[in-house]
Amino acid sequence: MTEQAPAPFTGEKRVLSGVQPTGDLHLGNYLGALVKFQRLQHEIPTFIFVADYHAITEWQDPAKLKAQVREIAAAYLATGLDPKVATIFAQSAVPEHAELAWVLNCVARLGWLDRMTQFKDKAGKHKERASVGLYTYPVLQAADILVYKATHVPVGEDQRQHLELTRDIAQKFNHDFDRPGFFPLPEALTQGPGARIMSLRDGTAKMSKSDPSDYARINLTDDPDAIAQKVRKARTDAEPLPETMEGLEGRAEAKNLVTIYAALAGQTEAQVLAEFAGHGFGAFKPKLADLAVSVMGPIGAEMRRLLADPAEIDRILTAGAERARALAQPTMREVKSIVGFWAG
Ligand code: TYM
Repeated sequence: MTEQAPAPFTGEKRVLSGVQPTGDLHLGNYLGALVKFQRLQHEIPTFIFVADYHAITEWQDPAKLKAQVREIAAAYLATGLDPKVATIFAQSAVPEHAELAWVLNCVARLGWLDRMTQFKDKAGKHKERASVGLYTYPVLQAADILVYKATHVPVGEDQRQHLELTRDIAQKFNHDFDRPGFFPLPEALTQGPGARIMSLRDGTAKMSKSDPSDYARINLTDDPDAIAQKVRKARTDAEPLPETMEGLEGRAEAKNLVTIYAALAGQTEAQVLAEFAGHGFGAFKPKLADLAVSVMGPIGAEMRRLLADPAEIDRILTAGAERARALAQPTMREVKSIVGFWAG
């Protein structure tokens, strides 16, 4: 939105992402985000946090919030993040996120935030009753990323607009304070068929933690029977599967199940159709159920095992926060000095 050409960032590559502790994690979170975290950790230094500051933009029961944070941490571990390799922590344990967010609130423009579709979706018709935090939420997200000078952000498709805003904010900061390349312009990693998983009840709505119907999603904690039952009950149509993806136009639910199969199997959608073209859902669903149980079943079991020992999860989060702060603090010191703060 500023006109300056992006200046090169010469720092190291770094991966950063987070999940809000606001409900049960589901297949969409897994395929859109978590599955990428565990792959990337072996390639690039990886920082993965639980976004509890973000969670309270909508009211959360204080008695439950801490347990929900542990649950997300357990999901990270159960899906293969290794705390010896990746840094895993809670956002609220690193106050530099909030400190940088204030500075970035003064860089971001109201017009930019007015365009954020997620705020419009979440605030609904009564936006004057939404919290101020819900409105400035994407600026906090920019701070989460930029406080580590992260270059790569694995997320689902729904976060793409927030990443574009992050780039605009980084670029404007660099420009306004005449520090070309101080903040990187981070890249959203949304590749792969799992970037946008839809509800099992309505192929036009995103699979979401807040969907009132539990049959709309497969939760990471669902047991094998529940997973298989949800696949069986997923909405479909009576047509057989076509040979190409174009043949699925206008069949949102059918397309979603093919996408889920591809993402779970690590295949392309074309490969799935090459195998199942001509078959109806009576044949396809049992295969999908078996696949989903084989991938998701062990994750749920591992989460339950980890959650039986919350002290161990807390130990991992504490150690992670220390590592994260060691990186966030120097950035914040630099920012304060750049801005000209008395304490900078
Ligand atoms: P959250 O908690 O809504 O979702 C966590 C991750 O899951 C992805 N996701 C999906 N992917 C595919 N299909 C779906 N149906 C689906 N639903 C959710 C999301 O894209 C996300 O990657 N604002 C973020 C949390 C956040 C963050 C950050 C992420 C806060 N600060 C900094 C990256 C970097 C959120 O609410 O995600």
